[in-house]
Amino acid sequence: MTSVIVVPVLAIDGPSGSGKGTVGQLLAQRLGWHFLDSGALYRALAVAADAASVDLGDKPRLAQLAVDMDIRFVPRGGGDVVDVLLNGQEIGDRLRTEESGRRASILAAVPEVRRALLQKQHSFRQMPGLVADGRDMGSTVFPDAILKVFLTASAEVRAERRYKQLKDKGFDVNLRRLLDEIRERDARDAGREASPLKPASDACILDTSQLDISGVVERIYGLLQQRRPG
Ligand code: DC
Repeated sequence: MTSVIVVPVLAIDGPSGSGKGTVGQLLAQRLGWHFLDSGALYRALAVAADAASVDLGDKPRLAQLAVDMDIRFVPRGGGDVVDVLLNGQEIGDRLRTEESGRRASILAAVPEVRRALLQKQHSFRQMPGLVADGRDMGSTVFPDAILKVFLTASAEVRAERRYKQLKDKGFDVNLRRLLDEIRERDARDAGREASPLKPASDACILDTSQLDISGVVERIYGLLQQRRPG
C-alpha cells in the first residue's frame, strides 16, 4: 500500500495590519516550518510592473510578468531578516511602501494575475510544513490547510499599528491618511470578484484588537496542537 505524505499548511488570512505577517513568522519559527508571505508576491509584481513600465490596466502583460518573475526570499546571514530578490535584485525597501501595497491591491483584483501566482504559492509547500499568510490562503490557495485562521481588528487599531511600525522604521507618516488607505484597501480587497478577502467557511475567526502579538501566537499554536495528528 502506498501512502501519500501531505505537507501540513497553517493558513493565516486577514486584512492589512491585522498582525498576520508578524504572527505567521513567529509561528513558522516556533514550528520550524517554512513561511509564505503571499502579499510579498503581489507587491513584488507591483514593483516589477513599475520597473517594466507596465500599466496596471494591462492585464495580459501583468499576467505574463507574474509568470516570468523570479522571486526569492533569502534569510540574511541565517538571521531573521529576509532579503527579497526580484530577478536577482534586492527590493525589500520598495516592497514595503504604502504605494506598493496600494498598487498590489489593484493588480491583485485581476483573475489572470491570481492564476499566474497560484503555482508560485504552491511551490512553497514543502516539508516539514508551511505557514502561509495572505487574503485567500484558506479559501483558495490551500483549501486543505489543517488549520485556517482569519485575523481581524478594527480599521482604527490596524491604522495605529501600521503608524507605529512605519514610524519606527523612520518613515514620515500621517495617521489619518493611513486610516483612509486601509479602508480603501479593505474595500477593494473584499469587494473584488476573484478570491475576495473573506474568511473560509471553516476558518477560526480571531479578533486581535485587544490581544498582543504573543497572545495571538499562543492562541493559534494551541488550536494547531489540537488539529495535528499524534
Ligand atoms: O498583505 P499585504 O498588505 O502585503 O498585501 C498587499 C496586497 O496584495 C493586498 O492589499 C491584496 C493583495 N493580496 C491578495 O490579494 N492576496 C493575497 N493572498 C495576498 C495579498
